Amino acid sequence: MTAPHRRVNANRAITHAITRTGAAGCLLAAAVTWALCGAGTGVQKAQATPRALSCNACHEQIVTTFVQTAHFKTSAEATARSIKGSFAAGHNVLRTGVPGIHFKMEQRHGAFYQTGVDSSQSRARTERIDLVVGSGRRGQSYLYWRNGLLFELPVSYLAGLDRWINSPGYTDGTIDFARVIVPRCLECHSTSFKLQQERRALQYSREYELGISCEKCHGDGRRHVQNQSSHPAEIRGKYILNPARFSRDRKLDNCALCHSGLRDELRPAFSYRPGERLDDYLLPQSDRDAPIPDVHGDQVGLLRRSKCFRASPTMSCSTCHDVHRPQRDLAPFASKCLACHQISQHPMAARIGVRMISSCIDCHMPNQRSHAIQINTPATQPSLSFRNHAIGIYPEVAATILQSGKER
Ligand code: HEC
Ligand code: HEC
Ligand code: HEC
Ligand code: HEC
Ligand code: HEC
Ligand code: HEC
Ligand code: HEC
Repeated sequence: MTAPHRRVNANRAITHAITRTGAAGCLLAAAVTWALCGAGTGVQKAQATPRALSCNACHEQIVTTFVQTAHFKTSAEATARSIKGSFAAGHNVLRTGVPGIHFKMEQRHGAFYQTGVDSSQSRARTERIDLVVGSGRRGQSYLYWRNGLLFELPVSYLAGLDRWINSPGYTDGTIDFARVIVPRCLECHSTSFKLQQERRALQYSREYELGISCEKCHGDGRRHVQNQSSHPAEIRGKYILNPARFSRDRKLDNCALCHSGLRDELRPAFSYRPGERLDDYLLPQSDRDAPIPDVHGDQVGLLRRSKCFRASPTMSCSTCHDVHRPQRDLAPFASKCLACHQISQHPMAARIGVRMISSCIDCHMPNQRSHAIQINTPATQPSLSFRNHAIGIYPEVAATILQSGKER
């Protein structure tokens, strides 16, 4: 889904986004006028407060693996490490289908820049890459600061092709530096950002925390840290939320804040707290809005449709996921299924044979193409695939997998 290309004042765009965001998703960014943000050079640099590290003293094992997860790495200050795209000569230019228009990515004195060049008009515009959004599993987009607001840069990175691409939703051959980043984008991709009134204009505060950290799911941890530090012999944890004890609906809500697709906002971004009812913050999605949830970003909507979920009152995301560590191998996921299903009962056990475990997930939660993300490149329209969380029977997928087995 492409974000509508509206020409509005940046502050109005932000205010609008706070009260009610119609456009959303990973392309979520309203456009502002070129003139308004083309001027001025105010650059901002802020310190990310590494509060997650304050948990390290007592939860070292969790923190050690958590910092390797996509959640923790989903946003960062721009560094040679955090940016996955290449600045090496021969790899740092994105050509477009429009003659004369190209983009160049450069590294100078430890800073990183994108330049849009329109040689037919002898024009160029350069902005610094300030923040990185996306762990890089599939891709990354880049943001720059301007007058206390954040804007999306026109060039993103696609991991599958290991190359620079037009940012999702951008039209090939246009140089667009004007997409303001609304708070909802940051709500899903960071721990905290604050908007404040600065000389009658709204701005993001310099105090923000990049990456999704412990407190996003456990609530404010300051009192817990204080209490446990002053009572080191205490073996019970106090003054901290443990989602394990939420009702199933609140457990799901805790993930649905970011994993239930595009929803209209009822309250400002960053006001939801773990344990609360998410429907009071984001308009519930009806089947009419999204008859078939997209495989990108709506794992909650999809899981809800599965028989496994509907017939198991306690099933939640944590049934299969431990968000404190990276989980990529599929075989351990198959063993999660076996907590409720038995291989010996499988109607096709004989035909499937030894591939029962290795293909379990691919048959019943196939990787499927997202229709929500649009990437325009001169030659092709690359697409991204995601694990379908509507666990079920996909006869064609299964047939293909069984077929490919025979050919071996
Ligand atoms: C000074 C030591 C200390 C620090 C620092 C600390 N914790 Fe804990 N925490 C504990 C102890 C002790 C427990 C109880 C044993 C356990 O569950 O590991 C606990 C339990 C927890 C629990 C489970 C609570 C429950 O009700 O089941 C969570 C969640 C938690 N901590 C999160 C955090 C987070 C997030 C941070 C950082 C913001 C943090 N802790 C920092 C000592 C600490
Ligand atoms: C409603 C929450 C939500 C919003 C809003 C959102 N995203 Fe995402 N984004 C996700 C989730 C969830 C994923 C990964 C899982 C998936 O796609 O199913 C993701 C994936 C991504 C990725 C790929 C990361 C990787 O390496 O795989 C990028 C890049 C990204 N988003 C950028 C953005 C940008 C930029 C914005 C705002 C302009 C934005 N997103 C808005 C939830 C959101
Ligand atoms: C994306 C959400 C999320 C993030 C981020 C997160 N947790 Fe958790 N945490 C959970 C959930 C959900 C549970 C309950 C799991 C269950 O149901 O068993 C949990 C449980 C815990 C527990 C209870 C003991 C245990 O292992 O089950 C501790 C302690 C804890 N988390 C600490 C942390 C710390 C420290 C961080 C940051 C380094 C962190 N968590 C980050 C979601 C999160
Ligand atoms: C604040 C928003 C937010 C919350 C809350 C959140 N997630 Fe995520 N989650 C994301 C984003 C964004 C990504 C994609 C990160 C990336 O690759 O850049 C993601 C990625 C993931 C992934 C893929 C990890 C990987 O290795 O690629 C899993 C699994 C996941 N989330 C599960 C959960 C579960 C379970 C919960 C609830 C306990 C949860 N998330 C809560 C935003 C969130
Ligand atoms: C918490 C228990 C639980 C877990 C875990 C679980 N399921 Fe299920 N599953 C069920 C229940 C209960 C049903 C409904 C059985 C019925 O209706 O007879 C079901 C139904 C199914 C069906 C039939 C779906 C249909 O539409 O007819 C398939 C296929 C399935 N599960 C596969 C899986 C796979 C694969 C996994 C692991 C990725 C999994 N399940 C994990 C409990 C679970
Ligand atoms: C090669 C693909 C494939 C693999 C691997 C596979 N399944 Fe299936 N599964 C199917 C198909 C196809 C059906 C529907 C069969 C039918 O209705 O005759 C099915 C049916 C089911 C059902 C419904 C049973 C019923 O009685 O209606 C469950 C539950 C199930 N599978 C779970 C699993 C689990 C758990 C695994 C892995 C541990 C697994 N399957 C591995 C393809 C597969
Ligand atoms: C029955 C098991 C199961 C349950 C329940 C489950 N997942 Fe998953 N999930 C998987 C498997 C298997 C994968 C594929 C692992 C991978 O490739 O990284 C996956 C991958 C993901 C990803 C990465 C998406 C992608 O395509 O790369 C996200 C995000 C995610 N899950 C979120 C959730 C959320 C949120 C919930 C709760 C609504 C949830 N999952 C419940 C099994 C489950």
